[in-house]
Order: sequence, then structure tokens, then C-alpha cells
Amino acid sequence: KKKLILDVDTGVDDAHAIMMALAAPDVEVLGITCCHGNTPLDNVLKNTLRVLQAAGRLDIPVYAGCEKPLLARKQHAGDYHGKDGLGDVPDPNAPGLEMLHKKNAVKAMIKMINENPGEVTLVATAPLTNLAVAVQLNPKIPKKLKALYIMGGNTESRGNTTTCGEFNFVADPEAAYIVLERYTCPTYIATWEFSCRNSLPWSFCDTWLAQDTDKARFMEEIYAYTRKMVQTERYQKELVSGPGFNTCDCYAMAAAIDDTLLTESEEVAVTVELDGTHTRGMMVLDYMGLLKKKHKVFIMKKVDQEKFKQLLMNSLK
Ligand code: BDR
Repeated sequence: KKKLILDVDTGVDDAHAIMMALAAPDVEVLGITCCHGNTPLDNVLKNTLRVLQAAGRLDIPVYAGCEKPLLARKQHAGDYHGKDGLGDVPDPNAPGLEMLHKKNAVKAMIKMINENPGEVTLVATAPLTNLAVAVQLNPKIPKKLKALYIMGGNTESRGNTTTCGEFNFVADPEAAYIVLERYTCPTYIATWEFSCRNSLPWSFCDTWLAQDTDKARFMEEIYAYTRKMVQTERYQKELVSGPGFNTCDCYAMAAAIDDTLLTESEEVAVTVELDGTHTRGMMVLDYMGLLKKKHKVFIMKKVDQEKFKQLLMNSLK
């Protein structure tokens, strides 16, 4: 089985992605490491446990990681995910934080990778703070990873948080910079524009959520707020999220789960802008090779949409 570590900031699309990983038959989720991001860390922890409960998988260890960015000011994405990060639906039966594993997420990440050298695929759908701290603590980590999949960054300076910046990179630009400098394992990036271009029709989302299962009912409930907001004309026009159902974290997850999903990618060296009035946190692509970087990443371009839809459908069965 493929061994995955999920590094998340559980908002609604992280929830989709976690469900996808849990449902994949050939995947073993070693652990879930949590980071600040869509919502404050405490909410991320609660939300992750709620998703695991809905999936009947509270046996998977959940670890608390960094609660703030390395240098940047904390920011969250409550407008998109709801204040609590999961659509603000009260859940009286939510598991308590005593269910968390006591180990710190960064240390747990290093331990899991060390114990499975060459076997672990790390899927990061949050700001990259935990990954940046992990490599500072243990520089050998990237060499021991099988692959790294990231949802974040952008290719055409089309932001969703600042004019040019995508949320996960803007929320911790220094961490994104460190990760793109130091993680020399095969790295795949699902950028914001890529997710927008590969968005699905809303009719698919309806079919996905209409499945007669507890998982689908849970997902429909927590996604109601975001879905309504994203379908407004203002959002569609101003945030340029594409005309459809764009569950961005799932693209990185799906590509990590199924090696045949990604049908087109571009190999290029990248970095992150750390200054700039408008451009801080923006991913920069070095097509001219001026950065003289040996390591290139794979920028995801196209996926097999039918396989992607199937993985989504299966995730709520
Ligand atoms: C990314 O930011 C978050 O709001 C989403 O969960 C996704 O990881 C999209 O920019």
C-alpha cells in the first residue's frame, strides 16, 4: 500500500481530500499533521477529528503542528470556509481534543518519514509551515520522501487571496520558499489556476453529494455555506475560481493516490517572492534558468477528469 502523510488545515476542501485518501483502497494514511491556515489551529484540529469521525476512522493519529506562520501575520480564510472552517454547522457530538495524539506534528512527521525511508508520500494542502520547520530540524527528510504533493501557488499571478497570491503560499511565504528550496524529492504542485481550469460542473457536485450515505450527508452539510457563496455572481467574477465546482485540495490528493491521474505536467524550477507590494507570496517560475536551481518541480497541467470524478464519488460511498 502507498503510505501517505496528510498535512492539512482542515477547511471544506481539505475535508474532501481527507475523505478521498481514506477511501482509496491502496493507500495507508500513516497520520494527519495539522497546521494553521483556513482557520485557527484549534479549529483545524477539531475539524480533522470531525472528518475522521464521519469516516469512521478515528484510529488514524492526528497531530497538532504550527499555530502560526514563520514570519507573516496570521490569516485565515473564514469567508470561504466559514468561521469555524467547516461551514459553521454545530456538531454536538464532535470528538474532543483529548483524541489528539500527544506528539507534536512536526516531530511526528519526521518520525514517520524516518521509519519508512523512501516510502512516504507527503500531501500538503495547508500553508507549508510544518514542512518548513521539519526540514530545518532534520535536513535529511526530503531525501527520505518518495514524493511531495502540494496544493498551492500560482502560475499566472492570478491570486485568490492577494492580487497575485494563492492562499497557502500567501499565508506563509517564508515557509513556501524554504520548502521549494529544500525539498528535492519529486514534487508535484497543483496551483490555483490549474484547479480553476480543471473545475467540474456543479451538476457533478450535486450527484456527488446526493449519494445516500452518512459521509455524503456530512459533506453536504459542511459544504453548504461555501457552495452557496462560491456560486454567487460576485465570487465567480471577482475571484475567478472558474465556472464550476473547484475543490482544489483534492487535485493534489488524487494525484498522490493514483499515479495515472496526472496526464500533463510541466517541469520547471520555481521559487517564491518574499518582498513586493503586490507580489509577496507569489510563486515565480524560472523558465530561463536564471536561478541556476538543479531541482525542478512538476507543475500539474491536466488530469484525467473521469478518474478524478470516480475518486471523488468513491470517497463518499
Ligand atoms: C487553498 O487555500 C485554502 O483555502 C484551500 O483549502 C486550499 O488549500 C486554495 O488557495
